[in-house]
Amino acid sequence: MSAEVLLTVRDLSVHTGDTPLVTGVDLTVARGATLGVVGESGSGKSLTCRSLLGILPPGLRNGDDTTITFDGTDLRALDARGWLGIRGTRIGAVFQDPASYLNPSITVGRQLAEVLRVRVGLGRRAARDRAVELLADMGLHEPARVYRQYPFELSGGMLQRVLIAVAICAEPDLLIADEATTALDVTVQAEVLDLLSDLQERTGLALILVSHDLAVVAQVCEEVVVMRDGVVVERGTAGDVLTAPAHAYTRSLVDAHARYGIERFRPAVTVHG
Ligand SMILES: Nc1ncnc2c1ncn2[C@@H]1O[C@H](COP(=O)(O)OP(=O)(O)OP(=O)(O)O)[C@@H](O)[C@H]1O
Ligand SMILES: [Mg+2]
Repeated sequence: MSAEVLLTVRDLSVHTGDTPLVTGVDLTVARGATLGVVGESGSGKSLTCRSLLGILPPGLRNGDDTTITFDGTDLRALDARGWLGIRGTRIGAVFQDPASYLNPSITVGRQLAEVLRVRVGLGRRAARDRAVELLADMGLHEPARVYRQYPFELSGGMLQRVLIAVAICAEPDLLIADEATTALDVTVQAEVLDLLSDLQERTGLALILVSHDLAVVAQVCEEVVVMRDGVVVERGTAGDVLTAPAHAYTRSLVDAHARYGIERFRPAVTVHG
C-alpha cells in the first residue's frame, strides 16, 4: 500500500462574477486511492471536477486562493499547451450522456483508435489492434464487431464502456467519473461500477467517483466527501459516513437510502419509517 499523494486541492472556489458557487473545498487523493463525492443536484460536484480538468464553463473562474497540485504540477499555472499533457492523458474523465462525446458518423473503434494515435502515439495498425484489445478489456463481447459499430448501434451501457476505454487508454494516474452511471438502468449501472472498480484495482489508477447517490459511491470508494451548497459538509471513510454520519444532511441521504436498500452496502442499518 502506498500513501504517496497524487492530488492536493486546497481552498478551491468557483465564482461567477462576484457570486461564489463553490467555496473552500479541500481534497487529497493518494496514488491508487478512491474518493467519492456525493451531494444533491447543484451542490458543486461538477464544478469541482471541472476545475481539476481546467474546463470550467465560460464566465466561471477559480478563486485566486485555489491551489490544485497534481503529481507535483501546479495545475492552476498551466497554459493551454501544458493542459495537453495532462487532460486526457494523465487525468482521464467520463461524464453522463456518453453519446454526446462521440461523433455519430464515425465507428466507435475508429474514434478510440484515433485517440490512441494522438495521445499514445501508436501507428494506424497498432492503434486498431490496441483499440480492439481495450474494448475487450472493458467487458464488451465481440470487440472486433463493436469496433465497427456506430454510436447509435450501441446501448448506453456499451457506449459508456467505450468512453471509459477512451478515458483510460493513455493510462492516466487519475480517472474522474462524474455521474458516469447515472443515466444507466440499475443493472447496467452496477456492471459499469464493477468495471471502474476492477480497473482501479488492476491498473492502480486513482478514482474520483461523483454521484448524487451515496449508495453508488459507497460501493466503490474508500473515502467519501459530502457536498452541499458549494461546500464540503462531511468527509470520512465510506463506512463511517454510512454508519455514523455526523452531518444532518448526510443523515438524510443515508436515511433516504435505508428505505431503498442501502443495507447491502453497510453491515447494520436502522430503517426509519
Ligand atoms: N455555467 C454556469 N453558470 C452559472 N452557474 C452555474 C454554471 N454551472 C453551474 N452553475 C451553478 O453552480 C452550482 C453548482 O453546479 P454543479 O454543476 O457543480 O452541481 P452538481 O453538484 O454537479 O449538480 P448535479 O448533481 O445536478 O450534476 C449550481 O447552483 C449551478 O446552478
Ligand atoms: Mg454535476
